[in-house]
Amino acid sequence: MAKKRVGILTSGGDCPGLNAAIRGVAYAAYNMMDVQFVGINEGYKGLIEGKSNEMSHTDFNGILTLGGTILGTSRQPYRNMRVIENDNVDKVAAMKANYKKLNLDCLVTLGGNGTHKTANLLSEEGLNVIGLPKTIDNDLYGTDVTFGFHSAVDIATDVVDKIHTTANSHGRAMVIELMGNKAGWLTLYAGMGGGADVILIPEIPYDMEKIIGCVEDRTLKTRNFAIICVAEGTLSYEESKMKKKEREQKRSESGFASGSLSIANQIQQRTGIETRVVVPGHYQRGGSPSPYDRVLATQFGAYAARLIRDGNYGNTVAMIDGKVGHNALKDIAGLKKLVDVGGDMVRTARDMGVSFGD
Ligand code: F6P
Repeated sequence: MAKKRVGILTSGGDCPGLNAAIRGVAYAAYNMMDVQFVGINEGYKGLIEGKSNEMSHTDFNGILTLGGTILGTSRQPYRNMRVIENDNVDKVAAMKANYKKLNLDCLVTLGGNGTHKTANLLSEEGLNVIGLPKTIDNDLYGTDVTFGFHSAVDIATDVVDKIHTTANSHGRAMVIELMGNKAGWLTLYAGMGGGADVILIPEIPYDMEKIIGCVEDRTLKTRNFAIICVAEGTLSYEESKMKKKEREQKRSESGFASGSLSIANQIQQRTGIETRVVVPGHYQRGGSPSPYDRVLATQFGAYAARLIRDGNYGNTVAMIDGKVGHNALKDIAGLKKLVDVGGDMVRTARDMGVSFGD
């Protein structure tokens, strides 16, 4: 069989496990076939601008435990992919031309929802594409889990643990804002893993009265502190009825740039308990992947190598009911996997007395 030329890129927000997945694809592919990898730099931006380098076996050594991505990444919003902007570049045509110029047999794209939408677009345009599911948000449709998620859960839970001890010492309410704009998986897991009193997620709009009630009745009657975990995209019930523009307008008028600042202010005003806000932000995406993610990313990578070997393109790797498999890109692109508000995780948390503010 002729040597296969495989382009590989990482796109969107980075996360621990990207390098483990890159290594998984490469090592397994080297064992299965004659292959030349071409690293595309900074995600789809690199494919548009033709920034790439030929890679050799040694480029993949020693990266299993390394955080971030050796290829670099960028955000190239899907909604603009077909829009010609000020630079006058036809992005889709440029990506197709560079794929051809690099003489690629296929392109492996590691990313989340936006990445998969563009991967599907390129697949529809006739390129051979294989996706791998990464994101700390765990919100990619069609897979039980994405790599990067559990590393972020470990970090976020550690934040909740550490905040617990200082909350206890000072007798404070601590509002911890965790990542997750549309999906509350990370906040749900870290909140449960860290024993939060209140967990607020985008899937369940909150009522401030319920939060105050929980902090006053349940928490402050039995001890002197409260832990409130808030996903960054959480909305109050009123906000959930508004259009995005109106919501942003209301927020800027209120003087509180984020939901967590506003929630903290109201807790302090209404209950009298001293309240602080903690925002770990991108810290949640940093550092080395957890052993779980190293194994998962390696499994996903090796499976992608099998798809390359078999010429089984137009697919993305997934964990389906606990088994590594794949979905057609066209079947999952554009769909999101949100927290099931009636599901087992939420039910268990409620059984434990956690308030979702509803
Ligand atoms: O998609 C991953 C994520 O970390 C989200 O949880 C968060 O809302 C967003 O990326 C932050 O994006 P950026 O890195 O561009 O600030």
